[in-house]
Amino acid sequence: MRMAPLPSADGVWDRLRLAPGALADGDDIAGEAALVVAEGAIRWIGESARLPAAFAGLPRFDGGGALVTPGLVDCHTHLVYGGQRANEFAMRLAGATYEEVAQAGGGIVSSVRATRDADEDTLYAQSAARLEQLLADGVCAIEIKSGYGLALEHERKQLRVARRLGRDYGVTVRTSFLGAHALPPEYAGRSGDYIDRVCREMMPALAAEGLVDAVDVFCERIAFSLEETERVFKAAQALGLPVKLHAEQLSDMGGAALAARYGALSCDHIEHLSAEGIAAMREAGTVAVLLPGAYYTLRDTHLPPIEALRAAGVPMAVSTDHNPGTSPALSLLLMANMACTLFRLTVPEALAGITRHAARALGLQDTHGALGVGRPADFVLWLVRDAAELAYWFGQQPRRTIVRQGRIASGPLEKPIA
Ligand code: NIG
Ligand code: FE
Repeated sequence: MRMAPLPSADGVWDRLRLAPGALADGDDIAGEAALVVAEGAIRWIGESARLPAAFAGLPRFDGGGALVTPGLVDCHTHLVYGGQRANEFAMRLAGATYEEVAQAGGGIVSSVRATRDADEDTLYAQSAARLEQLLADGVCAIEIKSGYGLALEHERKQLRVARRLGRDYGVTVRTSFLGAHALPPEYAGRSGDYIDRVCREMMPALAAEGLVDAVDVFCERIAFSLEETERVFKAAQALGLPVKLHAEQLSDMGGAALAARYGALSCDHIEHLSAEGIAAMREAGTVAVLLPGAYYTLRDTHLPPIEALRAAGVPMAVSTDHNPGTSPALSLLLMANMACTLFRLTVPEALAGITRHAARALGLQDTHGALGVGRPADFVLWLVRDAAELAYWFGQQPRRTIVRQGRIASGPLEKPIA
């Protein structure tokens, strides 16, 4: 689907307030700031009073004192799938656990059936509607996993949809191949054979088609063992692909330490992360991705070890984990709110979690998650007084103007004023 081009954001954006920590390099700017966009990138950023005269003649957008943040980064989603699973929500409310739902033939495998049944265009349309919701919150870069196909052609279909969404919506998409998400029913009792297939057939084929930016595994007693996880990591390493892991969500499997040994970009969920896991992640520079939406939906009570992660200086990202089973969430700002309320992150930690650290979890730290010269023009002007409002309100969207890949994607400031 070709979309009508959005209006260009080229010009000078002035009368801005930069959110604390927004700049990639250098100190915060306390006073009025300006930013120059040219050909989709940030050309200049700094105090308004220092705007070089050379830019004076460019179109001018009056920020009116808006707060500016980098475009948000949602670093863990399962956005592309068929159907939905509201029935399981009802089962869980009636007392079933996530594991019991999975054992009863629901769970991931039921989304696998719906995803296999959907053709590419149907999958695209269903996923696009969800993407639009996330983008409306100011998301400018997003990770999208496969893992509801669990067979070459269906994993390919999911990843192709993810790539198409990135092109059509002008949003940075990083794909993760999650072939090892669940055991497909046709492999029941033959987990090892399935992992062989993931490593020998699916991963190399999809990587060769340019569909894979990273490789993920669900390491858990209801999914894949530590040993199976390592086989997948070895195959990824042989193809030069970075890894990440669904680690220690329901139990401590030692997955995080293993992932760190393979230089993982991130370990995600980590409610049951151990001290050894934290030490290994710190050593490897692996990001901890917190997923309060899944914690909330599963009515989990086992908090991730936030204080220990903080003390160790492990960067903490926050993401929606959007998926039909455990986190049907489509607002990254709501996740920032929940990370504060449920996990006791500070507001600056939560805001770094949906920008700077989220970018690092995708290997995008040099281009996304902070503002700087030469980076893509991905930023959001929020009509709020205080940066804390981004995590404070929930169930409503603060008024904002979104600039994504140098285009004005939505908001009141659609045209230059001069
Ligand atoms: O991130 N933990 C595993 N995968 C998803 C759940 C997927 C599903 O239930 O469909 C998650 O929570
Ligand atoms: Fe997930």
